[in-house]
Amino acid sequence: MDPRTVSESQTQLIHWMGVNDANSAGFIHGGVVMKLCDEAAGAASVKHSRSRVVTAGVDRMAFITPVHVGELVTFSASVNAAWRTSMEVGVRVEAENPRTGERRHTNSAYLTMVAVDEQGRPVEVPKLIAETDEQHAREAEAQVRRRNRLAERDEIIARRQAE
Ligand SMILES: CC(C)(COP(=O)(O)OP(=O)(O)OC[C@H]1O[C@@H](n2cnc3c(N)ncnc32)[C@H](O)[C@@H]1OP(=O)(O)O)[C@@H](O)C(=O)NCCC(=O)NCCS
Repeated sequence: MDPRTVSESQTQLIHWMGVNDANSAGFIHGGVVMKLCDEAAGAASVKHSRSRVVTAGVDRMAFITPVHVGELVTFSASVNAAWRTSMEVGVRVEAENPRTGERRHTNSAYLTMVAVDEQGRPVEVPKLIAETDEQHAREAEAQVRRRNRLAERDEIIARRQAE
């Protein structure tokens, strides 16, 4: 399986937020933003693996500032790291007021996507080639999150077995 560069699978989704995306205060529902982050991460991870993928987990979903009706929202997804069958995808969300051009960073999310076959069994993914300093830094940070995730899981399993 040939390794793939980060840029080969980078994906952008753009959504124009409407009233159906909002709550009664006029802010966009967090769930709408989360769903679109998941879609963007799904597209990037399918492009990297050229396989079906499922979302295994969301490590972090930060809501920095609210998004409003009428804003154009861009979801930029990038594979940060690829392991045996799983990939961490980072999604940066930016909202733009199309009348003024004012743009701001509203959310960041890290999702773990797993490549699967038609029966839903995990399958191997290509290695990731980080090319820029920023991509190397993101890969190193993804390794830290994976180590913490696995350590947390092991500790919880051990505690439950000890009960
Ligand atoms: C994700 C899933 C395929 C993993 O299956 P599994 O039997 O646990 O498989 P494995 O133990 O072999 O793990 C496969 C990979 O998933 C990773 N993984 C499993 N559970 C995870 C979790 N909760 N968070 C992050 N990564 C996870 C493992 O670390 C492993 O990665 P690696 O191969 O790169 O080291 C399975 O749990 C599943 O299908 N979950 C439901 C997914 C879903 O319905 N998502 C919502 C709709 S898309």
